[in-house]
Amino acid sequence: MSLRLGDLAPNFQAKTTVGDIDFYEYIDGSWAVLYSHPSDYTPVCTTELGRTAKLKSEFDQRNVKVLALSVDSVEDHHEWIKDINDTQQTEVNFPIIADEDKHIAELYDMIHPNASATATVRSVFVIGPDKKVKLTLTYPASTGRNFQEILRVIDSLQLTDQYQVATPADWKDGEDVIVVPAVKTEEIPAKFPKGYTEIRPYLRTTPQPNK
Ligand code: BEZ
Repeated sequence: MSLRLGDLAPNFQAKTTVGDIDFYEYIDGSWAVLYSHPSDYTPVCTTELGRTAKLKSEFDQRNVKVLALSVDSVEDHHEWIKDINDTQQTEVNFPIIADEDKHIAELYDMIHPNASATATVRSVFVIGPDKKVKLTLTYPASTGRNFQEILRVIDSLQLTDQYQVATPADWKDGEDVIVVPAVKTEEIPAKFPKGYTEIRPYLRTTPQPNK
């Protein structure tokens, strides 16, 4: 059964490149991104892990811990990391989980047998500090993920957690946001003192409240 938005992200114990971890203990109090890749020494994954390492300060600023996963061993991961660091000019600075018995891949439904019987697809789970699943993405093996999009969604999730707003199509941090329909138009001036625009009674925008 696949995980759905709002579900509790299952806990697990894992061997990783930074040692053995308990997932809940590792992410305690933080947001998390857990993402899978098909296998070590594959070209697309090499670029993805390099990109993630380069974005570490962006994830840190958002209080996000990142964990990657594949079904290869810790020893393979460590050897491959040397290549990633060399070819992507970075230092992998987050754990890569070695899910050799595929127990985490199964918990998170990361193997899609009609795509590959053995390899994990490119799954992404964004998990909140409450351990609930906030976002799921599934990419095919041949398409590298857009990590700016993952950061963008985290910005939206963290903003909409704090304020009664939603974010429009292609929104980026700093741009106007939408006042949620549950807020009556007459309540907007008190809740959003920066002002608002009523485009339609159901479509009201306001400057991003935390900027
Ligand atoms: C990979 O790098 O993981 C990959 C590349 C081409 C096709 C499928 C996967």
